Amino acid sequence: MQLTINSPMDMHLHLRDGDMLKTTAPLSSHYFAAAIIMPNLTPPITSLKQLVSYKKRILEAAKDELFEPLMTLFFKNDYDYAFLEKAKPSIGGIKLYPAGITTNSSAGVATIDSQSLKKTLTAMSDLDIPLLVHGETNGFVMDREREFVAIYEELAQNFPNLKIIMEHITTKDSVDILNRYDNLYATITLHHLLITLDDVAGGKLRPHLFCKPIAKTNKDKEALLNVALSAHPKVMFGSDSAPHPRSEKEACGCAAGVFTAPIALQVLAQLFEKHGNLNNLQSFVSDNAQLIYGYTPPPKKVFLEKKPFIVPKTYGDVVPMYAGQKIEWSIVDVN
Ligand code: NCD
Ligand code: ZN
Repeated sequence: MQLTINSPMDMHLHLRDGDMLKTTAPLSSHYFAAAIIMPNLTPPITSLKQLVSYKKRILEAAKDELFEPLMTLFFKNDYDYAFLEKAKPSIGGIKLYPAGITTNSSAGVATIDSQSLKKTLTAMSDLDIPLLVHGETNGFVMDREREFVAIYEELAQNFPNLKIIMEHITTKDSVDILNRYDNLYATITLHHLLITLDDVAGGKLRPHLFCKPIAKTNKDKEALLNVALSAHPKVMFGSDSAPHPRSEKEACGCAAGVFTAPIALQVLAQLFEKHGNLNNLQSFVSDNAQLIYGYTPPPKKVFLEKKPFIVPKTYGDVVPMYAGQKIEWSIVDVN
């Protein structure tokens, strides 16, 4: 069985910097036509100068692949209209992190509501710059995303023209609000379509599956599968592939993040085939995002075949999901 995907896009990707970038960038740039690049470096990307030089480093590390990194700024409450107007041609969106909620987010925002963030959100709305949100409160770990729903609703109501993307949703509650507000959209990862908290911590602890937001219950996973497999027009694929060196994952104090970029398309094909929805994969991994972002990626064809692929145990210093295991689909050609 074969499948061709046109210009797949990864709408939530961590590539990191330095030596790590040299490992990660080619893995995404070979298989994807474009990706939304997260800005949570240390220090975070908050100026155009940083952003432009980071993009240059990504393109250098990406070799000669046809690949567009869609850059993001790390949300600051003092971005004004003039700055954002200047930034707009260089960015795909702005990523809002609650302070301290995940990797490298200490410079995030302490209070998230439309009044506190009015200046920047008004400018973003006027300029049609998407707001990408890590939607978790600092409550109990399993409740954080559910508690954030009220914040999403308040923002969606008060900024009806602002495109709000709920990043890496993991709960049924998040799925349920998608249809209630025209301006809410969502990315869904590969791993949240496959695992629950049981896979992370129900048996022996599996640090390489530990991420933020933490995987939830079966009911939540089913709700995510429902909208992903049917390629609901308001959801798109964002891997949230988040590499950390092995020493930081297999550690007392494990860093959050699952590394999926090199296996994402193959395992998505496996999953969509298993559920009889292969014909919806193109929309989930590219077409929906093109419509939501109003963006046309460079032309690239990725040819997949249902033949076994043994996932490498490591890529550089990073352990991927399914390390050393056999997956059912392979990428056989890209052009
Ligand atoms: C991400 C990272 O490591 O940068 N970690 C994760 O668990 N997903 C940050 C994020 O998206 O939360
Ligand atoms: Zn992320």
